[in-house]
Amino acid sequence: MQRRNLVVAIDGPSGSGKSTVARGTAVALGLRYLDTGAMYRSVTWLALERGVGLADGAALTALAEAAELSITPDPAAPRIAIDGTDVTDQVRTRKVTAAVSAVSAVPGVRLVMVARQRDLIGAGGIVVEGRDIGTTVAPDAPVKVYLTADPATRARRRASQDGQGAEAVAGTEAELIRRDQADSSRAASPLTQAPDAVVVDTSSLSADEVIAVIVGQVAEVVS
Ligand code: DC
Repeated sequence: MQRRNLVVAIDGPSGSGKSTVARGTAVALGLRYLDTGAMYRSVTWLALERGVGLADGAALTALAEAAELSITPDPAAPRIAIDGTDVTDQVRTRKVTAAVSAVSAVPGVRLVMVARQRDLIGAGGIVVEGRDIGTTVAPDAPVKVYLTADPATRARRRASQDGQGAEAVAGTEAELIRRDQADSSRAASPLTQAPDAVVVDTSSLSADEVIAVIVGQVAEVVS
């Protein structure tokens, strides 16, 4: 296996440290980076913008099919645009975060997104983060990692990522648990661990320590 064909799949719930670790791994290895959560978030942003009902699966699927996504897979400065609007920052708003589970649970939306993700992965040379990368999007990825962390740690990370103070942590924890529940129990591609994924509990590890574990996994498969 050559590094230029490598696919590193990083899955896990929100607040497990996925984004920091996936970007850092891509930088460390000189690979491209794909944040599949940002793809679901951008479709969600467009649905809110256009007033498409979050319970209207057919309309959401049609929206996803017609939308033109443009992704810059640079781990140092990833960007995403939908139908010509750069939404890199807008997709992180609370409004989008609150609505994205509903949109990402629609089977038709997932079919469209998974096909685009496979196109973007192409011949490889990429670190891909999400919820179903090792199970559905790239089940043949030679390196699969599933990150976990205890709920309190995840809530703390998420609140600080969103620029909120300590008083927001309890609310964030409740919201995280609710979203995990929705992501894990949906019928289409739920958040699950691939049986062959290496599980890393990041609760008491720094991002650099987790990256070192993944780089070690990569060294075992790359010649
Ligand atoms: O990782 P994130 O918080 O940006 O993900 C946003 C939402 O998209 C989250 O509710 C789970 C969903 N998602 C998914 O269903 N499948 C993926 N591959 C990535 C994200």
